[in-house]
Amino acid sequence: MCGIVGYVGAPGSGGALDVVVDGLARLEYRGYDSAGVALAGPGGLATRKKAGKLANLRALLEAAPLEPASTGIGHTRWATHGGPTDANAHPHLAGSGDDEVAVIHNGIIENFAALRAELEAKGVELASETDTEVAAHVLAGHVAAVRGEGLDGGEALAEALRRTCRRLEGAFTLLAVRSGDPSTVVGARRSSPLVVGLGEGETFLGSDVAAFIGRTRDALALGQDEVVTITAEGATITTFDGEPVEGSPFHVDWDVEAAEKGGYSSFMAKEIDEQPRAVADTLLGRSDAEGRLVLDEVRISTEELAAVDKVVVISCGTSSYAGQVAKYAVEHWCRIPVEVEYAHEFRYRDPVVDERTLVVSISQSGETMDTLMAVRHARELGARTVSICNTNGSTIPRESDAVLYTHAGPEIAVASTKAFLAQITACYLLGLYLGALRGTASPELVKEVLEDLHAMPAKVQEVLDGLERVREIARFMADSRSVLFLGRHVGYPVALEGALKLKELAYIHAEGFAAGELKHGPIALIDAGQPVFVVVPPPSSPHGLHGKVVSNIQEIRARGARTLVIAEEGDEGVVPFAEEVIRVPACPPLLMPLLTVVPLQVFAAELAAAKGLDVDQPRNLAKSVTVE
Ligand code: AGP
Repeated sequence: MCGIVGYVGAPGSGGALDVVVDGLARLEYRGYDSAGVALAGPGGLATRKKAGKLANLRALLEAAPLEPASTGIGHTRWATHGGPTDANAHPHLAGSGDDEVAVIHNGIIENFAALRAELEAKGVELASETDTEVAAHVLAGHVAAVRGEGLDGGEALAEALRRTCRRLEGAFTLLAVRSGDPSTVVGARRSSPLVVGLGEGETFLGSDVAAFIGRTRDALALGQDEVVTITAEGATITTFDGEPVEGSPFHVDWDVEAAEKGGYSSFMAKEIDEQPRAVADTLLGRSDAEGRLVLDEVRISTEELAAVDKVVVISCGTSSYAGQVAKYAVEHWCRIPVEVEYAHEFRYRDPVVDERTLVVSISQSGETMDTLMAVRHARELGARTVSICNTNGSTIPRESDAVLYTHAGPEIAVASTKAFLAQITACYLLGLYLGALRGTASPELVKEVLEDLHAMPAKVQEVLDGLERVREIARFMADSRSVLFLGRHVGYPVALEGALKLKELAYIHAEGFAAGELKHGPIALIDAGQPVFVVVPPPSSPHGLHGKVVSNIQEIRARGARTLVIAEEGDEGVVPFAEEVIRVPACPPLLMPLLTVVPLQVFAAELAAAKGLDVDQPRNLAKSVTVE
């Protein structure tokens, strides 16, 4: 969750503070509650840190300016150990003289209590409640020892950080600078994001590429348990044991504009409107002229995939609802069981997984700790793993056997929208790919579904162009205190996602139900005026699903509910029982989630805006939950 920036510019350039603070500003979307910087200059280390948003830090820097420096680190903190206070904000200082270090950290150091006890037994007084300050003191001790052994310059801090990392347990990204060495920043990563930016005569570190894409698009991804040393000339990387390693170079194809709002009132509004593009780009280049699938990046042999006898989808939040949509599609096309599991439950339920299980993780950020740990657990059990991910170079795809990147572009708003549609699209592609190689999906079927999928971006655009009434309803319902969402089949995960959007954007109680479950209890919630969204399957749906849901609408209407119905163009069966009908274009029933979720996203965002809430950074939430 935390935002991390490191920078080393040409000696004497003196621009570190602006680069670091600008980098933190580009990482604000990650969600945070305090911010701070440390500069390493000729006069040693200098830090400024403040609870609250970056504006508070900027005000402090105005009131108490720092001497110009060419090297620095910066941090936006999402509180884990210790509340969001000035004292707990990063960086944390430790040591003295040329051995003094400033440290910033993302993650959780699980053995910090034992380390804290060791330090306090040596008489060290800690100024904060954080695990980070404990790490800073451990590092300072190793710096003194290493320099006592004759090492100096950047290598002293790098070796001290390696020794420190070998003592730490848990998940962490650490950056550090040292008082006696104003030309080096070192960083370490274990299970937490850190990438290197390679500029001309300047080098960057960031928790993701947004920290430096305004200055360079050439990057290096780091592996697990690695320490990186950056200077103005570039980066050197070793393992925690000091073995030299090469980083994985990649080019960042997001430009600065793509990460800006582009004239929209919020990233949320921009990203909702980018959904047709997100679906189209995720399909791009993944089928040939004959309508056959081309998924070269799924680097698991066709023999292994053909032998798969079960698929398990692991993810969290909105991404788990994409997984629930995948269940219907993959089971239909592949005729093998698909289990959809919250990652944070999967890992602890002693799952039945072996080498014939394909575990598919879905993650926009690629850094969700719950999902990462579940992927690792699945691999320990022998499963092959595929990552569906939106963030190039992030940890989960790097630790999976194969990756199917979604191409939704940077999703800055904390609440996921375009990435969700891209995830569903990628799940359809993966399901067709598995069905084709297993022979359960004929070439004709694959071709037909691909044609249907390629028609979806235009249909999503059609939905987006007809939502003014939804916005009016949202503004009218701004005082609502509870809204229910019903759906069946693939409409059920859409109902769950619609409820989550309203909860996380407008802070209103909302609950999604399977429509068939209504009579088993939830119908007791229905009383006069209770707003209920109903996602209705198209009349062409099998098993009489459409009629069953129309009956559900009658049941709640008869008890006074306000029925807000999402239905296909031309579906007249819903009209007598709907207070409002929100139309979506006709499309194959399995692909409907790409359309029916959009009005629910817009409803939630508009209602939140009507309440004057921050739709990009809702309270208590972070864009990437990198702690368990
Ligand atoms: C989505 O609106 C939420 N912000 C949240 O549920 C999110 O989907 C979840 O934390 C998973 O994130 P990921 O896709 O980056 O793994």
